[in-house]
Amino acid sequence: MSYPYQIKSLEEYHAAWKKSVEDPEKFWGDIAANFQWKKPWERVLDWNFKEPSVKWFEGAQLNITENCIDRHLHDKANQPAIIWEPNNPNDPQRILTYAQLHLKVNQFAHVLKNNGVKKGDRVCIYMGMIPELAIAVLACARIGAIHSVIFGGFSAQSIADRLQDAKSEFIITCDGAFRGPKDIPLKSVIDDALVSCPFVKTVVVYMHTRTPVSMINGRDIWWEDEIRKIEQKGNPDFPAETMDAEDPLFILYTSGSTGKPKGVVHSCAGYMVYTNYTFVNVFQYKPEEIHFCTADIGWITGHSYIVYGPLSAGATSLMFEGIPTFPDAGRFWDIIDKYRVNILYTAPTAIRSLMAFGLGPIQNKDLSSLRVLGTVGEPINEEAWNWYDEHIGKGNCPIVDTWWQTETGGVLISNMAGITPAKASYATLPFPGVQPILVDEKGNEITENNVTGNLCIKAPWPSTIRTTYGDHERCRTNYFATYENLYFTGDGAFRDENGYYRITGRVDDVLNVSGHRIGTAEVENAINMHTGVVESAVVGYPHDVKGQGIYAFVIYNGTHGDEELIRKDITATVSRIIGPIAKPDKIQLVPGLPKTRSGKIMRRILRKIAEGELENIGDTSTLLDPSVVEDIKNGKI
Ligand code: WT7
Repeated sequence: MSYPYQIKSLEEYHAAWKKSVEDPEKFWGDIAANFQWKKPWERVLDWNFKEPSVKWFEGAQLNITENCIDRHLHDKANQPAIIWEPNNPNDPQRILTYAQLHLKVNQFAHVLKNNGVKKGDRVCIYMGMIPELAIAVLACARIGAIHSVIFGGFSAQSIADRLQDAKSEFIITCDGAFRGPKDIPLKSVIDDALVSCPFVKTVVVYMHTRTPVSMINGRDIWWEDEIRKIEQKGNPDFPAETMDAEDPLFILYTSGSTGKPKGVVHSCAGYMVYTNYTFVNVFQYKPEEIHFCTADIGWITGHSYIVYGPLSAGATSLMFEGIPTFPDAGRFWDIIDKYRVNILYTAPTAIRSLMAFGLGPIQNKDLSSLRVLGTVGEPINEEAWNWYDEHIGKGNCPIVDTWWQTETGGVLISNMAGITPAKASYATLPFPGVQPILVDEKGNEITENNVTGNLCIKAPWPSTIRTTYGDHERCRTNYFATYENLYFTGDGAFRDENGYYRITGRVDDVLNVSGHRIGTAEVENAINMHTGVVESAVVGYPHDVKGQGIYAFVIYNGTHGDEELIRKDITATVSRIIGPIAKPDKIQLVPGLPKTRSGKIMRRILRKIAEGELENIGDTSTLLDPSVVEDIKNGKI
């Protein structure tokens, strides 16, 4: 498979971008012609951002799994589709060729169907990073069920919220997951979640860690038992369901500025075309290369650049179960050495945490197979960028800094490896089809360069968010109503004299902790569940490794013992309600919170204090009780 739409020079990039803006229908229609359709489209694009309504390739029919698997069988049947490296380096690796992946996805699609899953049903997947997670995702897509993958670090309460929101009656999980030295009992977390989700009819359990589980008769079934039934029938192929271009492919929950996560919905055709296009162009993928994206499939990066982008391009995708520091901080480099990895796509937080171990873990590791490095998830500081460039890329590998979001489905702003220029800490230029603009607070476009503004996008790209599940109005108000006729990203950005973009971070109440999005309101809600808490306010502060840390100001009613005890208790509560990723890094007990006369908490002030800018708090005259600020400053930790 070659990629006729792979951009090969800076001139080609500029020409492609221009064409994509002048005639998006022709531009994307030509690219889409490289995929396998059951029926061609009648119209490439129809949109308005008012409702919003975004429709790509309307009238077309397809199944994304035929594009990700079946169409590679004639020439890549024996090429690895997925290489799996286990958490424990002494356990056996697994390789699934395209032929084997085809077999397993077909088998599991039968299992889903035999257990009553139909097109349009929502299937929740809560698993560790094992090949069966990718198989489950693809099997859902094959039968037209809408998958909703929940990251294995979320708590029972978070799962229950998502199950209720999506009304998922079907769950796929494992007994447990290995993450570094830990063994996480996923099935038992599901059991806890299901106490408040009586509508769940079936739970399929894959045995991985051999952690004891309790299986409920009539509800819980074993993955392997179900597969055996299909084998007994001789493993018949599963004809891929015919999907309309705009049928939903998946839901992925993400945090916003309110307390309740949003179910971001992506649809089949546009998402397929755009993740493939960006995968092929960002990384300049060459057939047979090994692509290692270190994200978890529980996040959008894993959906788009472990599963759908690489597989639709017939690539070899390396999937790693563990964490970068287990059994030691050389693990990524061991994996690159072992499999001769060509592309490494990881997060700044991982780079920073590995930097802290010095150069020892890199010594004697052969990294010469690397051709391209990538980063995603948060702004990368120059120090980390330079370390990555010098010590991992040995000065020979272009670094792509890819800016995008759960809602955008694929990369929107990034350099293309070796093709368009890189600049440390800049995502640089928009992808073909992407029209970023900066606006001021009032929504006026800022046209000059060397300016900062709120980052918006003018027109749809194929994997634009289509809706927030079950609540289209929420999608409109969140993304399309702040500024008229624009998609608002929630990020601020600086544009330099060359038109390169540097993302400066969120401008809303969303934190980015180790590349994970966490809403301050969600953390506050969780903290407030504790009966010792009167009120709380959560803000972010700069953190050397995580990018942002979570700082909680809490009014304590004194009923739960001393300060240390209540802090521990609050941390445990957040872990239980949301998951360990949302645990506050700092908890300061305060006598009051800075509020305006109308009762609104002035987070600006709290942010300054959390950042340690005690001298430079700004105007406090509109506060109900300005003296509270002094108290908080004095108690700063
Ligand atoms: C937010 C989206 C997209 C996959 C991972 C996160 C921040 C993402 C970059 C980057 C600076 C970045 C933004 C964005 N972000 N990539 N290259 N440089 N910031 O997905 O959880 O939806 O978070 O991550 O703030 O809005 P997500």
